[in-house]
Amino acid sequence: MSGKLDKAREYEVKKELAIPEEQRPKFHLTPRCGWMNDPNGFSSYKGEYHLFYQYYPYDTVWGPMHWGHAKSSDLITWEYLPAAMAPDEEYDKDGCFSGSAIEMEDGRQLLVYTGVNKVQGENGEILEYQTQCVAVGDGTDYKKYEGNPVITADVLPEGAGKFDFRDPKVWRENGKYYMVVGNKTVDKDGQILQFVSEDGFKWTYDKLVIKNNHRFGVMWECPDYFSLDGKQLLLTSPQDMLPEELEFHNGNGTLCVIGAFNEKGDFCEENCQAVDYGIDFYAPQTILTDDGRRVMIGWMQNWDTCGIRRDDFPWFGQMSFPREISLRGGKLIQKPVREIENYYGKRISRQNVLVSDSVSLSSIEGRCIDMTINVSSLSDELSYKKFEVRFADNGKAYSTVEYDPELNIVKIDRKHSGSRRAIVHQRRCRVANNKGNIKLRLILDRYSMELFINDGEQVMSMVVLTDVKAEGISFKAVGELNMDVEMYELERKDK
Ligand code: FRU
Repeated sequence: MSGKLDKAREYEVKKELAIPEEQRPKFHLTPRCGWMNDPNGFSSYKGEYHLFYQYYPYDTVWGPMHWGHAKSSDLITWEYLPAAMAPDEEYDKDGCFSGSAIEMEDGRQLLVYTGVNKVQGENGEILEYQTQCVAVGDGTDYKKYEGNPVITADVLPEGAGKFDFRDPKVWRENGKYYMVVGNKTVDKDGQILQFVSEDGFKWTYDKLVIKNNHRFGVMWECPDYFSLDGKQLLLTSPQDMLPEELEFHNGNGTLCVIGAFNEKGDFCEENCQAVDYGIDFYAPQTILTDDGRRVMIGWMQNWDTCGIRRDDFPWFGQMSFPREISLRGGKLIQKPVREIENYYGKRISRQNVLVSDSVSLSSIEGRCIDMTINVSSLSDELSYKKFEVRFADNGKAYSTVEYDPELNIVKIDRKHSGSRRAIVHQRRCRVANNKGNIKLRLILDRYSMELFINDGEQVMSMVVLTDVKAEGISFKAVGELNMDVEMYELERKDK
């Protein structure tokens, strides 16, 4: 093991002990200490789920990237494992960037990642070389392959950029290994390239999977590529997107391209949509569980809003709640994984509540809850103009979810959540027109809110850093409406 990895492992153990349990979310993975960004290596290995992450243990800001590591038997309760990799080789001395993992046939775990090496060019400029590298291990300790890097930009097809070439996602099919990697072309456009290997170590260029054609942002980061419900899906996180109407407002956002293979086996795009319409979601990865579910986890953060932080917390960055994804009517549907039910504590339910003006309901409160609200209009003519759920409320600070049934727009808003920074705090999303009927499911976990609209047709996620004692929840209508609420407190049995 290298000195750098040793040092990180010793450091994180000590630091973790100094972080009180209540200072972290209950169910969302945070870095063992310091900084976290993208999920990496989300995979099953020897019957457990493994999740690595972009990690800088020594500070709560991005730094030379290590890989943090955790495992879980149910995707919800995570156990930290020692940091898996440190930037300790010439080819990755400036960072072990994002990548993926897979169990090999011989029982070893293969990590595939981007090594970053900055070199000063002839004119004094800094050239950042990104190459694909591998490491092999037993689920805890990993050895970087002596033949690294296994793919350099030299093998890229004409037009591919030499520098932005990162985030390999690996899978196995028909006895071979494949990976897709993000690339920025010479003319500054995102594209996803596919590589193939017999053994996971010797790789050759296979084909171009898809090109952005200057539509969604510039560089396409963190691809994932898999089949789902009879279609082929490509997930990617484009940088520098331009908003279109109410879509793609995050600058760096997440895109889902739904398509199918043609007779030649090439990916043909059918339609595209954003994955998350909230503020904080990026760089998701998926796995196929043993029982056949496709489950996705993203970084519940946005590069542009990292200035919204708690300076008193020794960690920064958290993962989203794991979501089972599927397709319905050609659209992506997302639901919190059903394992959440194993964490249900007290259930509180209120039926047929007439909401006009503002109501609070006894026992409906809390910061770690799974709450489903069904709202309906009292008549065919819309009986209300606006519905609002206020949460994480202490009378002074609060956040909201609002629904406008005339415009069919849902808005999330954290501008009063206690932030002193004028950074984006709101996001709007267009939803189905169901004549004033809407189903809103909120998952709150101490420092976040994830909203699943109409059984997962849209999802809006945001970090909410209000003091956890702000537990108030209330409902408000402009006009009159009928509301059913079902809420479960979420509890960890081990804490
Ligand atoms: C995405 C990303 C990846 C890169 C990593 C570096 O958030 O920019 O493209 O591998 O973060 O930490």
